[in-house]
Amino acid sequence: MSIVIEALIKEKIRAGSSRGVAGIVNSIETLEGGGFLVRRPFPKASFSEFDPFLLLDEMGPMEVGPGEAKGAPDHPHRGFETVTYLLSGDMEHKDSSGHAGRLRAGDVQWMTAGAGVVHSEMPSREFARTGGRMHGFQLWVNLPQRDKMIKPRYQEISSSQIPKATSGDGLVTVSVIAGEAMGQKAVIETRTPIIYSHYRIRAGGAAVQKVPENYNAFVYIVEGEGLFGAEHERAGAGQMIMFAPDGDEVRIENASDAKTTLEVLLIAGVPLNEPVARYGPFVMNTEGEIRQAIEDYQLGRMGAINS
Ligand code: CO
Repeated sequence: MSIVIEALIKEKIRAGSSRGVAGIVNSIETLEGGGFLVRRPFPKASFSEFDPFLLLDEMGPMEVGPGEAKGAPDHPHRGFETVTYLLSGDMEHKDSSGHAGRLRAGDVQWMTAGAGVVHSEMPSREFARTGGRMHGFQLWVNLPQRDKMIKPRYQEISSSQIPKATSGDGLVTVSVIAGEAMGQKAVIETRTPIIYSHYRIRAGGAAVQKVPENYNAFVYIVEGEGLFGAEHERAGAGQMIMFAPDGDEVRIENASDAKTTLEVLLIAGVPLNEPVARYGPFVMNTEGEIRQAIEDYQLGRMGAINS
């Protein structure tokens, strides 16, 4: 980067300025777990990660008939965190350390797989019987090398425990899953600094999220169409906006003539800048550690679910 451009960026950051848009990414559709459809902006062949984030899946929204709900039966994870955020539906979770939980609309499960768990993520028996609307997200957050083999941890936060805020003009609301937004601080603890905000912006509203300049930041559009960044770039549902590291805030607007509420997830974190070796549900730093993870799983060292 030239000295002149670097100086300009530094000047912009000092002024407290809005980040530009570095790129807009379309999602692919793929089948996950026991065969449910997801929309996935990354990873894909051309875009494997957005450090420290490894994957984002949107499950649904879809109407599921009685007896048709699918989930992800017993499978392992090691070396990162899975974050499940449900907007509608009803899921049950069980794992090899004897932990069981249930997620309903608005609830979050932040699972630190660390050294390894085997878990299942399935629709509740009740939801499987009746069917209904299913909509949710799973984000994978990488762990730094020093934390990859820590003891697994679960943080289950019900919708009522998630801090929420509304703007003075009433046009913007936020649910603060991680980090801080609109004066509210999340209750979830993260291993490295993470921001995870769910914004709902009515026509004519604008959200401004503080994001320190050393964070990578993106937005995933859940519903509607919005204007993003300093240049007001337009994008819509299913697209991901990557922001440039050239400012300390991210600006999101819904045009005043918009017909629908704009709904987005804003996700940001400090990049780890460490080598990534990944194979399916294992994310480590070296190929040797991946082989070890596969062996540990095959020999039952990550345990099994007792049901
Ligand atoms: Co899983």
